[in-house]
Amino acid sequence: MSKTRLAVIGAGVIGRTHIDRICRSGNLTLAGIADPSEAGQVLARSLNVAWFNDYRSLLDTAKPQGAIVATPNATHVEIATDCLRRGIPALIEKPVADTVAEAQHLVSAQAQFRTPVLVGHHRRHNPINRRARDILRDGHLGRVVAASAFAMFLKPDAYFDVEWRRQAGGGPILINLIHDIDMLRFLVGEIVSVQAVASNAVRGFEVEDTAAAVLRFANGALGTVMVSDAGTSPWCWDFCAGEQIQYPRQNVQSHFITGTQGSLSLPDLALWNYRGERHWHAEMTREQTAGHQGDPYECQLQHFKAVIDGSETPLCSALDGLRTLQATLAVREAAATGQSASCTLPAILSME
Ligand SMILES: NC(=O)c1ccc[n+]([C@@H]2O[C@H](COP(=O)([O-])OP(=O)(O)OC[C@H]3O[C@@H](n4cnc5c(N)ncnc54)[C@H](O)[C@@H]3O)[C@@H](O)[C@H]2O)c1
Repeated sequence: MSKTRLAVIGAGVIGRTHIDRICRSGNLTLAGIADPSEAGQVLARSLNVAWFNDYRSLLDTAKPQGAIVATPNATHVEIATDCLRRGIPALIEKPVADTVAEAQHLVSAQAQFRTPVLVGHHRRHNPINRRARDILRDGHLGRVVAASAFAMFLKPDAYFDVEWRRQAGGGPILINLIHDIDMLRFLVGEIVSVQAVASNAVRGFEVEDTAAAVLRFANGALGTVMVSDAGTSPWCWDFCAGEQIQYPRQNVQSHFITGTQGSLSLPDLALWNYRGERHWHAEMTREQTAGHQGDPYECQLQHFKAVIDGSETPLCSALDGLRTLQATLAVREAAATGQSASCTLPAILSME
């Protein structure tokens, strides 16, 4: 069986994660690396793969079957569009773009070039979340009424030595909370409006260190999300779910979904409901769903291969990436204005 040839554009922190998973896989192979940095060139040499200063040369010379775009946010749409123009499917790191307008260009490009885009919201590929979605779809929770997510952790002071991380846009709403917003969209449904407050009281930088938001979902459910990079806390998906070894694992939960018939906590997938009488004086049962383990980055790459082969459609499309970005930007907007921010689909897309 021939291996699917993937190129990686941008070999920084997350690009190396993808490269590592490609190199360890049995059915994928690295077609080349494009990254103008010296570190990128050194990495390509150490792996004995072709290195390119310019990603366009990589696309035209190596002719990969798929490309992973793992460059800074502002470059995602231009690079991905160049892939699509050549008929090369793209896995684009999150956020799909810097702005909703840019993301819209990508949605249009995908339609124009009839080539698929997968956005790298990797948590969707975690078997825990796939199982949670099945539990919800099978109606075990009844109608969802509320969902809550915690994303609280302590970033080291040195993290803020880099200037952009102290400025507007460089904070935990766009960098971290976006993952939780996407997870809630994946599990609960579309978000239609957001109210929020943000604070920089602890670190005192221009950017927020803490934010709280209230979400309204299209299906009528309500949600709350809390994010802070200045709190000492174990309550965040990265710690609880054990997706990445650089975060010591904590045996607590970070996400909670309540429906009319039951509740689900994550990542432990414990299902709470009533067996007999159903009211707050009755005994509740706690059902432990079988453990679901798997490296979401590996699962995401296997899904990308299936998207390239045409056997699966993207689990996180360009439009999904746009809607998640839009809801996340709405948290920032609502916090800045003190007004509720709506997340309606841009008119041009609702007509497509
Ligand atoms: N899904 C996740 O878990 C996750 C985690 C971290 C970062 N990210 C996302 O991945 C992207 C990259 O983040 P990072 O932390 O790896 O950043 P990084 O700064 O570590 O790496 C970016 C790399 O891109 C290279 N680059 C810049 N412009 C380029 C171009 N035009 N062509 C080729 N290479 C170019 C840089 O030289 C650098 O090596 C961001 O969008 C970020 O939000 C996702």
